[in-house]
Amino acid sequence: MRLERIYDWKVGQGFVERDPRTLDPNLRKEDTIRLGHISDTHLGKNAPGQRRRELRRWLDGFVQMDIDAVVHSGDLVESPEGDESLRWAFSLFDELPVPLFGVPGNHDLRAPGGSSAVTEHWGPYPRKEEIEDLQLWLFDSMAWPPVEERSQREQESARNSGFYSRGAVGAEQRAAVKAKWTTPRKGARVAVVHHHVYQPVPQKPWYEKNADLMAPLEDAKPFLRLLREGGVTLLLHGHRHQYTAPYSPFEDLVIVNGGSVTRQAWPKRARLIDVARTGVSMRIWEFVRFS
Ligand SMILES: [Fe+2]
Repeated sequence: MRLERIYDWKVGQGFVERDPRTLDPNLRKEDTIRLGHISDTHLGKNAPGQRRRELRRWLDGFVQMDIDAVVHSGDLVESPEGDESLRWAFSLFDELPVPLFGVPGNHDLRAPGGSSAVTEHWGPYPRKEEIEDLQLWLFDSMAWPPVEERSQREQESARNSGFYSRGAVGAEQRAAVKAKWTTPRKGARVAVVHHHVYQPVPQKPWYEKNADLMAPLEDAKPFLRLLREGGVTLLLHGHRHQYTAPYSPFEDLVIVNGGSVTRQAWPKRARLIDVARTGVSMRIWEFVRFS
C-alpha cells in the first residue's frame, strides 16, 4: 500500500494538505485514536480469492501501523447468503488484535428493514461503541424506507438484481440516538453509515444513468443535523466506490467516502484516521493500491 495523500483538519480551520514524503504514518501524534477505515469489500463477487487477499493485506498493513480499531462501512459481502464468505470474513476479523465494527450495506441484506447473517453478527443498530475516549456511533441505512415506499423502478431493479439500492437512517434511529445525546460530548464522536450523504460528480456513465438508484441517503439533511447537534466531527460512509477526497461541508464535520478496498481493476483505497481524543482535529492518511 502506498501513501498517497495526507490531510490535516481542525474544526473552524478546514483542511491543510501535507506532503506524504515528509510524514511517516508509523509516527502518530499523542492523544489520538487511530482508526482504519475500509469499505465495500463485496466478498464472494468475481475473483473471490483476490478480494480476500486484498482485504487481508489491508488489515495486515493497518495492524502493523498500530491501529486501535477498524471500521467497515458496509457491503461486506456481495450476497448475504454467501455463508462461506461470511465465515471466512468473521474468522479473519476475530483473529485481529483490535476490534472491527461494521454497518450493513445494501448487499448485506435482502430486504430493507430486515436482518441477515451480517446484521445479526455486526448489529444491533443504532448503537455506540467505545474505543478509549472515542465514541463510534453505528447506523443502519437499510432500515428505511420499507419496500412499498420505494419507486417502481427500484422495486423492479431489486427483482432483477436481488438488492435494493437506496437507503435512509429513518426517524426511529435518529430519535433513539438524539435521546442519548442530551449530555454534552466529552471525547470524540464518530458516526458510520453505508450510504453517501451527498451526490459526488459522476465519474462513470453507469452512475449517471442510475443516479436515482444510487441516490444519497434519503434523510441526509436531518441526519447531518443530528450529527452536528451531537458534536460528531467525523462521518465515515461507503456505497459509492469512486474516490472523493475527504470534505467538510460544515466547519465542524468531516465526511469520508470509503471507496472500495477490493474492487477489481480500480485503484483500491483505504485510510487511517488519527482522531484527537477531543474530536476537534484529525489527520487522514490516504493509502492506495493498484494491484
Ligand atoms: Fe452499497
